[in-house]
Amino acid sequence: MSESLPHGGELINRWNPDAEIGAVDQEVELDAFSLSDLELIGIGAYSPLTGFLGEADYTSVVESMRLADGLPWSIPITLPVSRKKAESLKEGEAVRLVKDGVTYGRLWLEEKYVPDKIREAEQVYRTTQTAHPGVKKLFDRPPVYLAGPIELIRRPEKRFASHHLDPVETRETFRKKGWKTVVGFQTRNPVHRAHEYIQKTALETVDGLFLNPLVGETKADDIPAEVRMESYRVLLQNYYPEDRVFLAVFPAAMRYAGPREAVFHALVRKNYGCTHFIVGRDHAGVGDYYGTYDAQKIFAEFRPGELGITPLFFEHSFYCRRCENMASAKTCPHGKDHHVALSGTKVREMLRNGERPPATFSRPEVADVLIRGLREKTVITG
Ligand code: ADX
Repeated sequence: MSESLPHGGELINRWNPDAEIGAVDQEVELDAFSLSDLELIGIGAYSPLTGFLGEADYTSVVESMRLADGLPWSIPITLPVSRKKAESLKEGEAVRLVKDGVTYGRLWLEEKYVPDKIREAEQVYRTTQTAHPGVKKLFDRPPVYLAGPIELIRRPEKRFASHHLDPVETRETFRKKGWKTVVGFQTRNPVHRAHEYIQKTALETVDGLFLNPLVGETKADDIPAEVRMESYRVLLQNYYPEDRVFLAVFPAAMRYAGPREAVFHALVRKNYGCTHFIVGRDHAGVGDYYGTYDAQKIFAEFRPGELGITPLFFEHSFYCRRCENMASAKTCPHGKDHHVALSGTKVREMLRNGERPPATFSRPEVADVLIRGLREKTVITG
């Protein structure tokens, strides 16, 4: 197996810091979500996308998880604006993309269209309930989508500068390390023992592990990215061989779209240079909206080789006291009574109370960073 090609065959680069846009009068204010999408399109993480989706691509993605030309793509990347704003903009002209008075990019406006958001929710999120954070976000955002190719002119602030690499850089890093096969790991959580277990199991069969935590917008009760980044650093220092793991951030917003987002996460990691991608239990899920293995089953909807990245599926993993090992139902014959199981809510509660979860659930060094981080965060945010 050799280095993976970007999705669509070519790594897109729409970053042009020298762009002259003084003459552009039309302007659109971005939210944090679309600013992160702008950056990810610009740096090629969303290759082959060169801009926000037009109606034909959008409808095709919503209905059949493919761009209009048939290439797999599972999440619509859109730029929503208000009706009033849309009416004020002319197709065929350039639009300045702005946030808080700063220009980050330019859009060549080709289309404006009104999406059927109910249909988008049903197809992409498999629910229209606004208790789902991704659906709520979808419905809260304005009603008209703008489309056309973009140019990224200014990079949003890099909160984790030394870990903020573009696909062209991660690809070069993997090449220099001599890694022919690289497994990508998406996470929006601290890395607990179950995550560590599936990462290391995967690493037994590939050359390198790309730990690629999502650090864009997440829901309020997820652990903040600053705290998580510190926890990843101590974990790697203490428990991972340095020459086999590479940590860099994925500056995207979390959609919580479960199965659809698992495919999207895999395609984006392919653009970062991964050949393999881990999909475990309820990947990118939230609440009870998705079945435990729905995010694995969805990969069967594509022909073998079509995605150009190999998903590695893992069963729900846990520590078994009888086995004295991490295991899953595939490798452990013992009953649930022997398994260490803690809900996310329970773990957060323990950490907030300054209590370490058992070492069979979370490494003590990681627990200490989380306890300290959450305490400081509570002090700061009240
Ligand atoms: S996610 O929203 O980013 O998917 P999380 O950070 O919890 O959430 O998960 C990261 C990856 O680890 C996902 O592929 C998920 O399916 C997998 N995973 C999380 N917990 C377990 C577990 N106990 N057993 C197996 N896989 C798991």
